[in-house]
Amino acid sequence: MGKRLLTVLAVIAFLSGVVLSSLGGAADKQEAPATIEIQAKLWSEHTKGPVKFEHKKHQDEYKIKCDSCHHVYKDGKNTWKEGDKVQKCMECHNEPTIKGEKKLSKDKQKLNLKLAFHENCQGCHKDLKKKDKAKYGKIPTTCIKCHTKSKKK
Ligand code: HEC
Ligand code: HEC
Ligand code: HEC
Ligand code: HEC
Repeated sequence: MGKRLLTVLAVIAFLSGVVLSSLGGAADKQEAPATIEIQAKLWSEHTKGPVKFEHKKHQDEYKIKCDSCHHVYKDGKNTWKEGDKVQKCMECHNEPTIKGEKKLSKDKQKLNLKLAFHENCQGCHKDLKKKDKAKYGKIPTTCIKCHTKSKKK
């Protein structure tokens, strides 16, 4: 094969790569950072410091499925699947009460952000600890284990 033909082939391969990736669009290559400092902007005033969340560890080491945490409900069923756009929790859970949130109506509680985080994070941790205390004895279930930093930044 001539050098020229190789060059032409290389150029074609490169260009089709460019075309394919631009066709794919930017939206579907959304990456989560390995570690997320959760401090939702829904609250302009935080009573607690940010929560350090090891996103990558939860997915790779602890082997938690994406859809244990990410969802889009349609008719009561989670229709979100890996590769779909991920919205921030507060985009849907936009009910901001952080005091007496359990006194809200059931519908409001579903969209309360503090309850969403606590049910998801603390809920799973408590369940695992209950199921297998020997294995999960150290999993964070108390305030200070997640809210390790003092108020604000
Ligand atoms: C398993 C982890 C976890 C545990 C345990 C936990 N939280 Fe949270 N909590 C979170 C996360 C994540 C958020 C969202 C943080 C943010 O956006 O600032 C949050 C948010 C909050 C908020 C609203 C945001 C703010 O700064 O005011 C309050 C209040 C709160 N938690 C109090 C508590 C208290 C009190 C306890 C113990 C009874 C507790 N949490 C236990 C993970 C946890
Ligand atoms: C244990 C819970 C959990 C698991 C498992 C999990 N995530 Fe996340 N993910 C989160 C939380 C919490 C955030 C931050 C959301 C926020 O800031 O409101 C996040 C953020 C993201 C973001 C960034 C969204 C942004 O802010 O732009 C992407 C992308 C993402 N996750 C994709 C995934 C994929 C893909 C998987 C599976 C391979 C996965 N996640 C598994 C909890 C989880
Ligand atoms: C696209 C909108 C949307 C996003 C984004 C979203 N939620 Fe939800 N979530 C809902 C709705 C709606 C419900 C109530 C479903 C029902 O009717 O039972 C819900 C229910 C929940 C529940 C209770 C039931 C369950 O599925 O465990 C928890 C906990 C929860 N969300 C946490 C989170 C967390 C944490 C995030 C971010 C990682 C998040 N949600 C992102 C819309 C959303
Ligand atoms: C479906 C289950 C599940 C959910 C949901 C979950 N976790 Fe975890 N988490 C785990 C497991 C499993 C471990 C590892 C425990 C061990 O090995 O001791 C862990 C460990 C942790 C640790 C301590 C070790 C580390 O990696 O930092 C923190 C902090 C933590 N999780 C915070 C969170 C926060 C914040 C959320 C919500 C945004 C969350 N987790 C949601 C299962 C879960």
